[in-house]
Amino acid sequence: IGQNIHCFSEIDSTNNYAKTLAQKGCDDGTVVLAEHQTQGRGRLGRSWDSMGGKGIWMSIVLRPAVGLEDVQIITLAAAVAVVLAFKKVMGIDAGIKWPNDIVLDGKKVCGILTEMSMEMERINFLILGIGINFSHEESEFPEEIRDRATSLGIYLKEKKGMDISRFKRSHLIRAILSELEEVYDMINEGKAGVIVEEWKKYSVTLGKEVVIKYREEQYTGIAQDVDQSGRLIVKQDDGTVREILSGEVSVRGL
Ligand code: ATP
Ligand code: BTN
Repeated sequence: IGQNIHCFSEIDSTNNYAKTLAQKGCDDGTVVLAEHQTQGRGRLGRSWDSMGGKGIWMSIVLRPAVGLEDVQIITLAAAVAVVLAFKKVMGIDAGIKWPNDIVLDGKKVCGILTEMSMEMERINFLILGIGINFSHEESEFPEEIRDRATSLGIYLKEKKGMDISRFKRSHLIRAILSELEEVYDMINEGKAGVIVEEWKKYSVTLGKEVVIKYREEQYTGIAQDVDQSGRLIVKQDDGTVREILSGEVSVRGL
């Protein structure tokens, strides 16, 4: 992963560009990076604020040797890779909100958007889009998300009295790609179960009361477990157990 890296000062979305490269047959593990995205995309059709120079806006083309049922595991694995890299490079302990938001004190510091291309019912390629708020000050976030978003810089200053300028984005990127390569190799070797166990260590969702929204439907329950395919197991108050796929679902803590 990261043998080929394409860098842009400005682009619409690194996920779009990565998709174009993948369609042209680029190598497994090709990376696209941009300083600024004009149309950064988030999950559920939301837009992703991708301010110039403040974040790590990155997409990785993957051609995994696994079936459809393991796609979700790759997204969980990416979240684990980011958390491990935060710890190694900056000594930061972040949590994962199912399926793959990385949070610091309950605020989102990183989001992951996985997009998939299928051919003859098999995975043709995956685009793993990772957005990390690196050096934003609180006032630099759009007002609508200010109370729910944070950056590594904000957290470092508040918690450790450190300035983010002592860290380089390139170091963090390198660490993420190297952690990602490790988990990706494991998945390709059929060891997805190890990833799920690792993911659980950092989960801030398990054991908590959650609100699940799926289209018009909404229900609450306790998040009990994540199964071997990465589905969230939620037990509703009336005892009904639901298995939730991440697709179009939004999960909120109460
Ligand atoms: P999800 O359903 O994807 O887990 P959420 O709505 O539960 O998202 P929150 O942390 O509650 O996530 O809210 C953050 C909101 O702000 C999300 O809608 C997120 O997509 C959006 N957002 C846009 N740009 C950013 C950014 N740079 N950093 C953090 N959040 C952002
Ligand atoms: C989310 O909603 O949590 C997912 C956010 C994903 C943002 C990243 S930034 C790099 C890549 N390019 C995009 O347009 N989106 C992803």
